Amino acid sequence: MKNGWSGLNESSGFSKGREKLLLDLLKKATDFYEDIVGILSGIYELSEYVRKGSPEDEFYSYIVQVLIRESRCENASVFLVEGDRVVLKAAAGVDFPEDAPAVSMELGEGVAGICAREGRPILAPDVHECRYFKEFPGSRVHIGSMLCIPIKDAKTTFGVLNLSHSQNNFFNFHYQRVFELLGLLVGQMLTLIHISSIFQRKNLDLNELLLQKDESLRNLTESYKTVVDASEDVIFILGRDDAVTFCNQRLVASLGKVPERIQDMFEGDMVECIRAHRSRMQPGQFLDFERTVTFGSATGVVGQFFIKCLSRDSALVMMRDITARRRLEQRAMQTEKLTSLGLLTSGIAHELNNRLTPILGFADLINARRLGERDRKRLSVIINAADSAKSIVESLLKFSRNKPPEKAVFDMRDIIRRTVSLYTPTVRKRGIRLLADEGNEPLLVKADMNCMEQVLVNFINNAIDAIDNQTGTIRLSARRCDNSVQVCIEDSGPGIPEEIITRIFDPFFTTKAKDKGTGLGLSICYGIISDHKGEISLENTGHGALARIRIPAMTPDIHQERMETGAGAPSAPQDEPESSVRSTIMVVEDEEDLMELMVDTLSPFYEVETFSNGKQAFDHLEDRRWELIISDLRMPVMDGMELYLAAVEKQPRLKKRFLFITGDTYDLQVKEFFEKTGAVFLRKPFRIKELKDVVYRQLHDR
Ligand SMILES: Nc1ncnc2c1ncn2[C@@H]1O[C@H](COP(=O)(O)OP(=O)(O)OP(=O)(O)O)[C@@H](O)[C@H]1O
Ligand SMILES: [Mg+2]
Repeated sequence: MKNGWSGLNESSGFSKGREKLLLDLLKKATDFYEDIVGILSGIYELSEYVRKGSPEDEFYSYIVQVLIRESRCENASVFLVEGDRVVLKAAAGVDFPEDAPAVSMELGEGVAGICAREGRPILAPDVHECRYFKEFPGSRVHIGSMLCIPIKDAKTTFGVLNLSHSQNNFFNFHYQRVFELLGLLVGQMLTLIHISSIFQRKNLDLNELLLQKDESLRNLTESYKTVVDASEDVIFILGRDDAVTFCNQRLVASLGKVPERIQDMFEGDMVECIRAHRSRMQPGQFLDFERTVTFGSATGVVGQFFIKCLSRDSALVMMRDITARRRLEQRAMQTEKLTSLGLLTSGIAHELNNRLTPILGFADLINARRLGERDRKRLSVIINAADSAKSIVESLLKFSRNKPPEKAVFDMRDIIRRTVSLYTPTVRKRGIRLLADEGNEPLLVKADMNCMEQVLVNFINNAIDAIDNQTGTIRLSARRCDNSVQVCIEDSGPGIPEEIITRIFDPFFTTKAKDKGTGLGLSICYGIISDHKGEISLENTGHGALARIRIPAMTPDIHQERMETGAGAPSAPQDEPESSVRSTIMVVEDEEDLMELMVDTLSPFYEVETFSNGKQAFDHLEDRRWELIISDLRMPVMDGMELYLAAVEKQPRLKKRFLFITGDTYDLQVKEFFEKTGAVFLRKPFRIKELKDVVYRQLHDR
């Protein structure tokens, strides 16, 4: 190849010489042909490399290796343009060391720099005659001729392909054309690699993004799940055919299992109700409603429901258990109703007491011994009637719960046993079994025994009435429950109709015939248990009704009950001897009848002066040395309590010389007043003997 194609002209004219020339030419043509085939096969290898999406970095060493292997070039190298320099990226060939030093030059410097800057091939058949050629200091590559081809696409020159051979004239114009095309192809390949690497990077970025999104989605799902699981509400999603496709922890915990279908949670009518709502709802629509349901094994659960149609085949259902809230509200309502009714009742009772006191008092004052037989009988009728009116007023007060419970410590089991043995004969006759399971453990409470008995009797009566004339069972059970004693009364009657369940504790609410029920039973029980700081409920079990009563169990209590004025105290002698110095008593009362009664009763024994209100009495406080001030509590101008405070302030010795006559001892303010001052009182209506006794004690027991 030394002489190139030009050798043909020089050897014409000699047949032997011509033959040699022809052979020479043939050899050159064959070499060139083989080089072309080699380069073509190299191009194929390179395009395969690109097709497989191999990395750009290794592409350059691949190019030089392919060229060295497939063509007869001795050395090949690739320089890339980086800013204003060309940098050696890969080199291979006979003279290149394994680890080629880092080589770079400025754009426009040396053959590679010119080629890269101008984007045109540079052929140097004899490098020594090439003005651009610049040997690298210390290079061991022996170069005779070289060809430098730009690697480029239509717009940009990326770098150069540098080929060299130790022979001069090894490269000629034909090689230049072939390699020029190779440079363009490599440029296209590089563009492709570049684009594909951009795609790969984007793909990696996208994958990374996808992973991140995946991760944050997982975290978000976890957070939602935690929130949904921690919710106090029961939450689930219904799919087709009532299938439960999702449910929260709360639901699983309350139910004790993972439900597969809605029927695993609710009974038939609720299942129907949810189905009916779903069938009417469009995606996105929602509704809420309240309903008492049986949820798993829990009956009487008041649920606040929220249903949202998510799609044609799925709906979100949430149930908030508001049983306790409703119970509290009902209790508050009940207490309110009873309070207002109690106020009315106690007002009536107060008025009746005021009227009854003189009736009973004057009847007592009439000396029966001086009367004839008929009048004596008439008098006793008056006294008996007034006495029974007094006990009616007592029971009215009991209903209004103005009377504080008279508490004592006892074992609840005793009351249960007593009530059961009292009722056993009655229920047996009706074919009802009365069973009691009061346990073996003492159930001590500090309560009003009569009231507790009254509560049990009320519930047992209700249970007997509910079972009606059928056979059935009433079960009483009692046990200690945390700090309370719980008594349950369960019957096998028909239960309470749903439509009246919210009214059964209302006073005067009854479903019974006029002569059978007043409708006060449950409201009295309610009042009693509330007074004992307890809880009471009546609900359906599905096969009857179940009443639950809870009152605090007894805890050691050193509370000292205040001494009552009556029992065990000394009484006045039948006829108090008139002493030479009679005690002075001030009577303060606005009711004339009552005033007269007290004067009639006390004046034979004491020096009595009367005043019709607190102010009058106070104005005469200094008139005499009063031994006792008997005062009504409620009076116009200045009431008894105001009189007490003003009088004691002026004369502290009067602190123990007050006796109040009142029908209001159950009023909260009055109760507080007595508790605070320790003042003594007598309840209206009173009998004459009671009045005499307490006055006597007040004067003598200081
Ligand atoms: N165990 C029960 N089973 C079914 N219904 C009951 C039961 N207990 C009470 N009820 C219903 O509650 C209503 C109110 O009861 P409550 O005890 O207050 O009054 P009463 O029994 O009707 O009359 P009273 O107790 O004054 O004689 C009853 O009329 C009845 O309809
Ligand atoms: Mg009743």
